[in-house]
Amino acid sequence: MATRTIGIGLLGAGVVGGGVARTIFEKGKSLLYASGASIELRNVLVRDLHKSRGIDSLSDLLTTNPQDVLENPEVDVVVEVLGGQVPAKDYIFQAISNGKHVVTANKDVMAKYGPEILEAAHAKQVRVLFEATVAGGTPIIAPLQRDLSANEVIAVNGIINGTTNYILTRMARDGIDFLDALAEAQGLGYAEPDPTNDVEGIDATYKLAILASVAFQTPVFDSNVYCEGITKLTSRDFVYAAELGYTIKLIAVARKDVEGIQARVHPAFISSDTMIAKVDGVLNAIEIETDLAGRVLFHGQGAGAMPTTSSILADVIDCSRGILDGKDSSSIGFLRRNTQIRPIMDLETKYYIRMNVVERPGVLAEITRVLGDLEISIASVIQKEVDFTTLQAEIVLISNRAKESAIQQAITELAELEAVAEIGTMVRVED
Ligand code: NAP
Ligand code: HSE
Repeated sequence: MATRTIGIGLLGAGVVGGGVARTIFEKGKSLLYASGASIELRNVLVRDLHKSRGIDSLSDLLTTNPQDVLENPEVDVVVEVLGGQVPAKDYIFQAISNGKHVVTANKDVMAKYGPEILEAAHAKQVRVLFEATVAGGTPIIAPLQRDLSANEVIAVNGIINGTTNYILTRMARDGIDFLDALAEAQGLGYAEPDPTNDVEGIDATYKLAILASVAFQTPVFDSNVYCEGITKLTSRDFVYAAELGYTIKLIAVARKDVEGIQARVHPAFISSDTMIAKVDGVLNAIEIETDLAGRVLFHGQGAGAMPTTSSILADVIDCSRGILDGKDSSSIGFLRRNTQIRPIMDLETKYYIRMNVVERPGVLAEITRVLGDLEISIASVIQKEVDFTTLQAEIVLISNRAKESAIQQAITELAELEAVAEIGTMVRVED
C-alpha cells in the first residue's frame, strides 16, 4: 500500500520552528513509524529570507508570503510558531477556514482566543492542537484530555515558568539579588532582553488560563487569572522563608469548588519538604489533583527548541493519525461547561508580611490591633535587627488562614500607621 504523505506548512523558523524543521528532516523515518504517514515540510514562512538558519534543506522552502502556506493545497497541517498575537491569530483562523488542521505553540493567542478558535475548528471539522503552549516539552494538555478524562479535576498547581524558577532558585540557594539573578538568566539565554512577560507573571498567566480551560473544560481567559510577578521579592524574604521552613516559588494554581474556579499566579511560600519546592532551575512541574487518580505530577523541560519540538511533533503525529483514520474532527472538550470564575479577594490562605517599623514600645500592639479588628490571627512573629541610624526594626508576621480581602485591608491600614515606615513584601503561604 502506498504511504500517505501529510504536508506541513510551517509559520516561523526561529528557535522552535527551526527545531521542528530540523527534526522533520532528520527523523523522517521514525516520524513515519509513529504516525503511519510520511511527514513532509512544504512551505516555511519567515520575515527575513536571508537570515542564516543553519539548515541546508530549508532555504528552498522559505517564503515571506503567508498565503504560500495557508492556501497551499498540499498543506494538511499548519504549524504556527510565529509568537505574538498579530498576525498569528489571523493566520490560525485563516488556516482553519481553509480546512487545515493547526498545531500551535502560541500561548498568548490560545489564552485570549482559545475557545473561539476551537469553535471555529469544530465548525470546519478540523483540529487545533496546542500541547506546546504549556510547559514546553512536558506533556500536560494531552494527558488531561485523554488519560485523565474520566476524572473531575479538583486543582492544577505548579511551576510553569522556567525563567522565574531559575531566578528564584538562585536567590534561594545563593542569596543573590533579583536583578543579579535576572542578568544571569539573560546571559544564559533563559530570559529575554525584555523579561517583562516572565518576571511579571504574564507568561505563566497565559499558560494557566489554557491549563485551567482544559482541566475544567470551561473557558478560562488570561484576564480571569490573578497575576503578580516576582520583582518585589528581596534576598531578605528568602532568608526568612528558609528560617521558617519554606522556599519561595512563582506558583500557578487553579482550583475548582462548588462556588467556581479560582486561578492565580503569584510568588508563594511553599513548605520546603514538598515536591514542588524541590523543582529547581528552569524545570517546570505541574501537579493535577483529581477525584479518581488522586494526585499526578508532571515534571520536565518547560522550554527550549528541542523539548518544544517534541510537543509540537506529537501533535502533528496525532493529527496525521487522525487524518489516516478519517477522524479529522476537532474535540472541543473545553467548551462544554461554563463555570463561574471567582475573584482573588475570596482566597483564604496564610500570609507572610514583612515590614519596617519604628523601634519603640507599643508598636507591636498597634499592629496586632489592626489585624485583630479584621479578624486576622497571627501564627508567628519575628522581630529582627534595630537599624541604629534610622531606629527602625524589621518585623515579619505569618498569619493563620485569613481572607485575602481582610489582608489587603490590613496592609492599607498598617501602611497608614505612623509607626510603620514601610510594608516590604506580602507573600501568600500555600499549605
Ligand atoms: P522566535 O525565535 O522569535 O521565532 C519566530 C519566527 O517567526 C521567526 O522565524 C520569524 O522570522 C517568524 N516571524 C515572526 N513574525 C513574523 C511575521 N509577521 N511574518 C513572517 N514571519 C514571522 O520565536 P520562538 O522562540 O521560536 O517562539 C515561537 C512560539 O513558540 C511562540 O509562540 C512562543 O511563545 C512559543 N514557545 C516558545 C518556546 C521557546 O522555548 N522558545 C517554548 C514554548 C513555546 P525571522 O526568522 O525571519 O525573523
Ligand atoms: N519564557 C518561558 C519560560 C518559556 O521561561 O518558561 C516559553 O514559554
